[in-house]
Amino acid sequence: MVSQQTTDPQLDAVGRPMPAFPDPPPLASHGPARVIALCNQKGGVGKTTTTINLAAALAEYGRKVLIVDFDPQGAASVGLGISPHELDRTVYNLLMERDADIRSIIQHTATPGLDLLPANIDLSAAEVQLVGEVARESVLARTLRPILDDYDVVMIDCQPSLGLLTVNALTAAHGVLIPLECEFFALRGVALLVETIEKVRDRLNPRLEVDGILATMYDPRTLHAREVVARVNEAFGETLLHTVISRTVKFPDATVAAEPITTYAPTHSGAAAYRQLARELVARGDAA
Ligand SMILES: Nc1ncnc2c1ncn2[C@@H]1O[C@H](COP(=O)(O)OP(=O)(O)OP(=O)(O)O)[C@@H](O)[C@H]1O
Ligand SMILES: [Mg+2]
Repeated sequence: MVSQQTTDPQLDAVGRPMPAFPDPPPLASHGPARVIALCNQKGGVGKTTTTINLAAALAEYGRKVLIVDFDPQGAASVGLGISPHELDRTVYNLLMERDADIRSIIQHTATPGLDLLPANIDLSAAEVQLVGEVARESVLARTLRPILDDYDVVMIDCQPSLGLLTVNALTAAHGVLIPLECEFFALRGVALLVETIEKVRDRLNPRLEVDGILATMYDPRTLHAREVVARVNEAFGETLLHTVISRTVKFPDATVAAEPITTYAPTHSGAAAYRQLARELVARGDAA
């Protein structure tokens, strides 16, 4: 059954009691990082938007955060004001050159506490070039190891595919966050994604867990969006996060401005939603 439209702040979008998510306590020291892969092979569901804005919200709470742009489109890099096509060295070099220095490739962003490992179109060659490597699924995990103690959270923005790059992200991760657009075909493909996650857990990375499913582009005025989240709740229960991200043009606007929404429109409800998501993940133990 579809719940009534909830305007009650005590209830979430599927009518569950909304817990209070306290402000995360300040951290006395940083690291080791928990690594979270943002994954969904469906395109345009909010992976990059969530990576940038959740990372910025965690940084606002004093966390040290690294975004790994793991999409040859370089959308996370562009969205943080870094033109990846002008860069000589990116995550691609790190994957392909044994002695590449990760610290020399990481860039600071305009958001204090938020760093970026950029990507550009070079990365599209890695998928093919890695095939012949020894332990080709764990190249990213190995290259990230030296900096894990410098950060509290590392977020990997995956490309929309379940290919070798995404398997590398899942092998490097402690948790997976699955953004799901609130539209009719949202659940199509999720079974395949979950199957891929389970295979990686069985064969490559036993610690891997699904941290949560995040409903994105939610429009509370449409019955349709409410039906979709109700179905996700039926299928996944507690894996569906309480926080939902509403559909608003402020997100594409912030992308054009190459800024997180938390600084582009700090008082907008979209910024508040990603801050709440940050608090929810900290409360669940999924982020420091
Ligand atoms: N909550 C939202 N409301 C409105 N627009 C949004 C929202 N979230 C993301 N968008 C817009 O939708 C488009 C796709 O979002 P995004 O790039 O984050 O998805 P993605 O899953 O990373 O896509 P890809 O699979 O291509 O990497 C972008 O133009 C973005 O600005
Ligand atoms: Mg993306």
